[in-house]
Amino acid sequence: MGRIFSGIQPTGGVHVGNYVGAIQNWVRMQDEMESFFCIVDYHAMTVPYDPSDFRRRVREAAAINLAAGLDPAKTTLFVQSHVPEHAELAWILGCVTPLGELQRMTQFKDKARQHAENVNAGLLNYPILMAADILIYKADTVPVGEDQVQHLELAREIARRFNGTFGPTFPEPQPRLTAGARIMALTDPESKMSKSVPGSYVALTDPPDEIRRRLRRAVTDTGPTTGEMSPGVRNLFTLLEVFDAQGDTFRALRRAYDEGTLRYVELKDAVAEHMIEQLRPIRERYEELVAHPDRLRTILAEGADRARRVARTTMEEVYERTGL
Ligand code: ADP
Ligand code: NA
Repeated sequence: MGRIFSGIQPTGGVHVGNYVGAIQNWVRMQDEMESFFCIVDYHAMTVPYDPSDFRRRVREAAAINLAAGLDPAKTTLFVQSHVPEHAELAWILGCVTPLGELQRMTQFKDKARQHAENVNAGLLNYPILMAADILIYKADTVPVGEDQVQHLELAREIARRFNGTFGPTFPEPQPRLTAGARIMALTDPESKMSKSVPGSYVALTDPPDEIRRRLRRAVTDTGPTTGEMSPGVRNLFTLLEVFDAQGDTFRALRRAYDEGTLRYVELKDAVAEHMIEQLRPIRERYEELVAHPDRLRTILAEGADRARRVARTTMEEVYERTGL
């Protein structure tokens, strides 16, 4: 059985794009593989944040992923800083990582531009910590979006360099590109749905009326009609196909579209109602978890215990290899 690792940013606004593109895949994979999912609070410190709010954000990130289907009986879910060996291994891996490799990372260059007033070393070293996250569990599979492919390639390079210097220790983790559909912004179907664009998304925890409102405002036809389905309409059909479990409404509205009798408001409302139905149990479980922080803390403490046992075993081997 393979082992999978994935990091989860403790950012709010988890939306249906994240659900379809990432979380649903993780939920499927936890049945096939031994899985480690980590709320990456160390990573989140590389950009300005509010310390007084940080633990709450971390707990909420755990809660939404549990509510959406990560199962502590199948998955080790934990908080990165609860397993400080990640930071320890990152230091050691940093000593076999060429500076030039870090400086040419696209995400570093982007973030250095975005946060020009605070280009800290953490931002530069981010991919080393990510390599440590993965390698400390000797994960062989890492589900990644396009934007993380370069970092994973560097993690493989770091594993190779460590193995070359100190002897074979780490497997080279393989990327598994997320298989889910790419969901576009409701307000601008030419760009992807993102938490950083207000109005572009439906959050997993949005109440029904909010979901209806957001769908009603979705952009359908932009520019002149070309005879081809517009990106906004295509996006709504993608969402309907995902959230209409039986597929009956999807097929009926698709037929109406082909026959030229579809009213877009019908499509928007159908997407809204199916989404509301599918998201309702997720929102209920989320509210339940947030109302019981003790339960959440227990899940995360048990996750950290399990993760730490594996991490310590790897570190023993690393001490041996490196002469520490
Ligand atoms: P955001 O763009 O909202 O900040 P993240 O970059 O935090 O989202 O992405 C978290 C995960 O969700 C990644 O695996 C990413 O590939 C996936 N994801 C993000 N946005 C979408 C989307 N619009 N459609 C499909 N998957 C998405
Ligand atoms: Na599992």
